[in-house]
Amino acid sequence: MENSDDLFRFVAALRAYTSYDLSDYSDRSLRRRLYKVLDDEKITIEELLQRLAQEPAYGERIVEAITVNTSELFRDPSVWLLLRSRIYPKYKTQAYLNIWHAGCSMGQEVYSNLMLLNELGLYDKARVYASDINAKILAAAQRGEYRYRFNLSYLDNFDLVINTNPLNYEEKLAIPYSKYLKIDEAKDLIKIHDDLRQKPIFRRNDLVKGVNPFFVRYDIIFCRNVLIYFNAALQNRLFEVFYRNLYPGGILVLGVHESIIGSWANKFERLSHVYVRKD
Ligand SMILES: C[S@@+](CC[C@H](N)C(=O)[O-])C[C@H]1O[C@@H](n2cnc3c(N)ncnc32)[C@H](O)[C@@H]1O
Repeated sequence: MENSDDLFRFVAALRAYTSYDLSDYSDRSLRRRLYKVLDDEKITIEELLQRLAQEPAYGERIVEAITVNTSELFRDPSVWLLLRSRIYPKYKTQAYLNIWHAGCSMGQEVYSNLMLLNELGLYDKARVYASDINAKILAAAQRGEYRYRFNLSYLDNFDLVINTNPLNYEEKLAIPYSKYLKIDEAKDLIKIHDDLRQKPIFRRNDLVKGVNPFFVRYDIIFCRNVLIYFNAALQNRLFEVFYRNLYPGGILVLGVHESIIGSWANKFERLSHVYVRKD
């Protein structure tokens, strides 16, 4: 039986017994995830709270289960086409380019970006950093393995972004997937090539703490489909973190259902779901 206090008690217990503070996550999605976890773990809220108090490491597992890790290669192709046609060309003359994927999940966004950077001749000058709160998912990101049959859309998206010239849609390219990944149908596996997997620096980081985990400034920050799980106060704190850690003119890429809200909207110029830091 669901109770309106459950969420409050769960968040308070995590705060008391672990380093996680989910107070500024959006109530609706967090509540939905909490009941899913109770269901999956086949425990009551009382049992969950008791176990959190007795066994802090259990909190790690629960937070991993609470986070939503859905992602895909070249998710929302129109955003990648915008990056391809309007954003990346201006980095051609720059010596290097720092990119942070905040909330990178299993790495699909990171590898999509590396493929695109390679096609545009920017791969060697890119330093790519990726972080997530979920250590288990980060380990999966480093493995760069995805199910094949379940993820056929990855290949359609690849063609839409890599084999399309957004400045001339008549021109069709024929770059094969095998340039970047190996498909093993028998094992139902898509595996990203080793050179791509070894390029990014992956690090665990909780965005709630408001800290830049890599101690560099960035030309581009991707934080897509993460802010939707946070309330307005936490979103605003993060806009400040992103603004401060971007170079002037730097780019913040959000998810297609996200936008900059409140006073931070005046600090960025909007180009669809891509935001340019104003100075
Ligand atoms: C839906 S996925 C988005 C993945 C990818 N950016 C994309 O758009 O496909 C959201 C990711 O945010 C991560 N996340 C949730 N809360 C976080 C936090 N406090 N700090 C860092 N990452 C967080 C989750 O673990 C998850 O991997």
